[in-house]
Amino acid sequence: MAERHKITIVGAGNVGATAAHWAASMELGDIVLVDVVEGMPQGKGLDLLEAGPIGLFDARIEGTNDYAATAGSDVVIITAGLARKPGMSRDDLMKTNAGIVKPVTEQIVRYSPDAVLIVVSNPLDVMAYVASVTSKFPRNRVVGMAGILDTARFRAFIAEEAKVSVEDIQALVLGGHGDSMVPLISCTTISGIPVTEFIGREKLEQIVQRTRDGGIEIVNLLKTGSAYYAPSAAAVQMAESILKNKRRVLPCSALLDGEYGISGVFCGVPVILGAGGIGKIIEVPLLPEELAALRKSADDVKTNIGKLDIS
Ligand code: NAI
Ligand code: 2OP
Repeated sequence: MAERHKITIVGAGNVGATAAHWAASMELGDIVLVDVVEGMPQGKGLDLLEAGPIGLFDARIEGTNDYAATAGSDVVIITAGLARKPGMSRDDLMKTNAGIVKPVTEQIVRYSPDAVLIVVSNPLDVMAYVASVTSKFPRNRVVGMAGILDTARFRAFIAEEAKVSVEDIQALVLGGHGDSMVPLISCTTISGIPVTEFIGREKLEQIVQRTRDGGIEIVNLLKTGSAYYAPSAAAVQMAESILKNKRRVLPCSALLDGEYGISGVFCGVPVILGAGGIGKIIEVPLLPEELAALRKSADDVKTNIGKLDIS
């Protein structure tokens, strides 16, 4: 009998625990939930295991504070770190979360040297860079989650405005996971029909802005944390594509090496995600203003990386 895949999720807070829930219900594999808080990952893991007979999923689920239990993971989702509070930008989180993501990555590499890392902790593109530099993994095996979330928000708002199913909205949001992200109206269609046939330019611009502000909109509503249902669903969609070698084309944060004229920085771009991580980075022909916005967004990430002392 074939072994089940093994997925480690580091950080058993809102995003991590909800990711475990999605992954278990999709039967993606056995799950290890790791956190620094004693008892909490164990409690959440046991609770989720006990949901199996009701949700009808078979998965071994273990919560732990000990990385030895993560050994031999195929995919590791890193959600450890602080979430944003009202008035706090993603960048405010940077130094604290870099101090968490670096040692977490060291532990993961020690026990799962062949894993694909999916980074979720914020500021996303900088934390993916921290995980990349720390792990020394090849660039196909470190990938950041943000574009699927930002694109899902864009798609949800478009579906709501056009009064059509979310299933029929195809869109792409590129760039860093921050205020300079780049939602591409030129790549947005409803079942292949340009979105501009359904929604006027002015309204579309409002939707673009709401997408850019999508994270803070939820923070302001929740007051004590940030979004987690859509972020965890997005991370698990990436894990699924990798574990099942689906080769889905998804916007993810990848370490660029000349693509779009950008190098040495993580930035959201369309990638083919399959066994082993990123199979290919796709270079979409962009309008000059879109390319300029993407490069500006990558520059913002580079500036932030420069503020950290990582090597
Ligand atoms: P949370 O506060 O609910 O959970 C974070 C967990 O990390 C806590 O349980 C905490 O104990 C744990 N943790 C802290 N230090 C750790 C360490 N050294 N080792 C293991 N675990 C550790 O926060 P939430 O909502 O789950 O968000 C997690 C991170 O994901 C935040 O940085 C947040 O900003 C980010 N995020 C990123 C998104 C994206 O689009 N990339 C979307 C949503 C959240
Ligand atoms: C979000 O976009 C907080 O980055 C997180 O919801």
